[in-house]
Parts: sequence; structure tokens; C-alpha cells
Amino acid sequence: MLVLGLETSCDETGVALYDSERGLLADALFSQIDLHRIYGGVVPELASRDHVKRMLPLIRQVLAEAGRQSTDIDAVAYTSGPGLVGALLVGASCAQALALAWGIPAVGVHHMEGHLLAPMLEATPPSFPFVALLVSGGHTQLVEVSGIGRYRLLGESVDDAAGEAFDKTAKLLGLGYPGGPEIARLAERGTPSRFRFPRPMTDRPGLDFSFSGLKTFTLTTWQQCVAAGDDSEQTRCDIALAFEQAVVETLTIKCRRALKQVGLSQLVIAGGVSANRALRRSLEAALGEIGGQVHYARPRFCTDNGAMIAYAGCQRLVAGQQDGPAIEVHARWPMESLPAL
Ligand code: KG4
Ligand code: ZN
Repeated sequence: MLVLGLETSCDETGVALYDSERGLLADALFSQIDLHRIYGGVVPELASRDHVKRMLPLIRQVLAEAGRQSTDIDAVAYTSGPGLVGALLVGASCAQALALAWGIPAVGVHHMEGHLLAPMLEATPPSFPFVALLVSGGHTQLVEVSGIGRYRLLGESVDDAAGEAFDKTAKLLGLGYPGGPEIARLAERGTPSRFRFPRPMTDRPGLDFSFSGLKTFTLTTWQQCVAAGDDSEQTRCDIALAFEQAVVETLTIKCRRALKQVGLSQLVIAGGVSANRALRRSLEAALGEIGGQVHYARPRFCTDNGAMIAYAGCQRLVAGQQDGPAIEVHARWPMESLPAL
């Protein structure tokens, strides 16, 4: 089955062709980062309008790259939530229109299930069951995964998501958007142990997270340095490192705790923050200690992309799932409500 996947939940237009027998044939992405950068974050209306402009050229591009015709496509998968409603509506309308015109089925995909399954596109995919750490701009969740659609939420952020904390902290340090890669870049030049930031909610039991206090702690530290006349590049790097280390260690402690709680030793990390090298290194060391393994996607498939939507949609379509022609999107959508395959 050849599936066209469309991703438009936020600020990237992602398109891919996934074949149930041959795997990923082609994928293309247009990132709107330059469009939103001057505003310091995503402007929803601009995002929707740009998805409209990019979608059809990207579909033509993946077809050409895969050497396929539109008549070869068996089904269309699109992100139907969670995300920005206007942006989601562009992908959903486009997918449903193509499905109607081509007389093929369409299926709406949960964006976070897409992220969660992205490591399946790699050479050594994880096998069920495993614990997943989903860390994106909108979500921070620990999930026990026993199969596709078999999800049990173990813990989540009570305030900011990990990616959101990176983005907000970067902004208050005067860095660009998106903040995650900017902080990671500065942290590489940071002086270890000049600052030590708190590891929120690690001193009590449970698997929930809180990152908003850490953001405030970072701001206060930076303001104190500036007030003392030190607003140097090196201090910014040192603060970036202290912040990154606090997030990474907090996530590592909770992952270890989650694996112990459910008695598993396989961990999947997914979503934009899973591209962070310090996080990967820290989790690899922690899992090494318990004889377990960490799985993640290549950096391009950690952040938003069409390949993960084509893959997740294909699994659901092959299992017989499809949606009616209604154009329905969900700004919020708990992943545990998805049907199990
Ligand atoms: O999954 P994603 O592309 O979009 C959402 O579904 O939200 O995640 C984007 C988030 C942003 O907050 C971005 O700052 C963060 O992922 N991010 C990173 C890195 N690359 C992207 N955070 C830390 N380190 C990185 N290398
Ligand atoms: Zn995402």
C-alpha cells in the first residue's frame, strides 16, 4: 500500500510517500522558521497561509523523487491533531480533497503517535513493549507503549513542555527561535559547574514534570549577572549549559524511574527535543547501566515531518482503519483515546 502523508500541525509543511512493502520512498519538508523568526514564535495565521502555498509543490516533489504518479497512491494520511487548528485544517482539507478526487481512503493521524512511531523508520527499530518519552514544543509525556494505539500515560508536564521551556529560556537570553537548537549550540561552549540549576520534581515520587520554575530560575540568574555588569557571551553559554543539564538530568531521572516502575528496559525518545545530543548521551549512559537500549529517529525525523505521518497512517490503514470525508481536526486530543490496532 502506497500512502501519501501530510503534516501541517504547526510551522513545518511535511510531505512523504511510504510504501507498506518497500518503506519510505521520499520525503520533503518546508520549514517556516524564517517566516516566524522576527516574531520570536509561531504566528498561527501566517502558518496556515504558508501551508496552503507549500503543500501542492511538495506533493509534486515527493512524487517526482519517488518516480511515482498520483494514480499510484492508495491512501492519504494527514495530521488531524493536536496542533494549531488553522494549520491542521489546511492539511485535512487538502488530504480529504485529494482522497475524494482520487477515489481513495483518507485517515487522520495523531501528531504525537506520529512522533512516537518515527524511530520505526530507522534501521534498528524498537519492538513493543517500551516506555516512550515524548518531548516536543507542546508535549512532555512518559507513556507505556505495548503496541500501536496501546498507550498508558505514566506522567506529563504540569506546566511548560520541555521544548517550550527551551524556547522561552532562549528568548529571555536574547537568542533566536526555535530555542532548543540555539541553547544546545551555546551550551557546547559553556563552563561546566559554574552554575547549578534545580532538577524540578525529582525529589518526590511520581513521573510528572514541571519546567516553568526552571525558566524563572534561569531568568533570575541572567538578570543577576547583567546587574553585576556581566552580560558576556561566555556567561550566556554557561547559563545555557546549566539549563540544558538541568532539563537533561530531570528527564533522565524520570525515564529511569518510569522504566523501573513498569519493569521494562527499552526506551524510545521522540519529538523535537529528542534531537538534543546531551539528552541522547545521558539516556544512553543511564540505559547502559541497566542493560537496556534507547531508540530515537534521525534528527530530521525528531522534529515535525511528513514521514512519521505517512508511516503511522499506513499502519492504521493496513489494519483497516479509515475516516469518513468530514474535515475534522482536534486542537487537543488525548493519545490514550486512540483505537488499538
Ligand atoms: O516536535 P517538534 O518539531 O514540534 C512540536 O510538535 O512541538 O518540536 C519542536 C521543539 C521546539 O521547542 C524546539 O526548540 C525543540 O523541539 N528542539 C530542541 C532541539 N531541536 C528542536 N530542543 C533541544 N535541543 C535540540 N537540539
Ligand atoms: Zn511535533
